[in-house]
Amino acid sequence: MSLLRTLLLGRENGLRARLKRRVLGGGASEERAPPPRPARPVAAEKALNLGVEPPKDVTPPDGYEVVLHKNALEPGEVIEVIIAGKAIAVANVGGAWHACSNACPHAEGPLGEGRLEGHVLTCPYHGWQFDLRDGTCLTSPGDTIATYPVEVVGDAVCVAV
Ligand code: FES
Repeated sequence: MSLLRTLLLGRENGLRARLKRRVLGGGASEERAPPPRPARPVAAEKALNLGVEPPKDVTPPDGYEVVLHKNALEPGEVIEVIIAGKAIAVANVGGAWHACSNACPHAEGPLGEGRLEGHVLTCPYHGWQFDLRDGTCLTSPGDTIATYPVEVVGDAVCVAV
């Protein structure tokens, strides 16, 4: 019966169902629609689309890796970077650079796609907030994220991972 209904009326969240809801008004099934995935942050688009590559002529300090060109992010922006096989979030906090684990301890949300306000990084999934200076969670005391030392050498942002 449900297959026949699907064939006649379309999938519950499909195009025909949405058109029907638009014409006839909202229905209960609208509440079950998944939330829209957040758009990729401006910082990620900028770094990817404008080709702001990390400088190649810089020797990072011992234990550090070059991760970004210092012009890749404006103050207040954060981005996910994969370095040494590890996903980290790198943030420009008013010209001071910070790096932390990209995975939120709540449910693995991508912190590099989060929102940055001062030193506070907000997870894009459920809004947990973290202080980038020490990795403490402001929403759930006792939870933390790993933070990594950052050095700027010439035009290169270098992170010790
Ligand atoms: S995954 Fe980050 S708050 Fe839920």
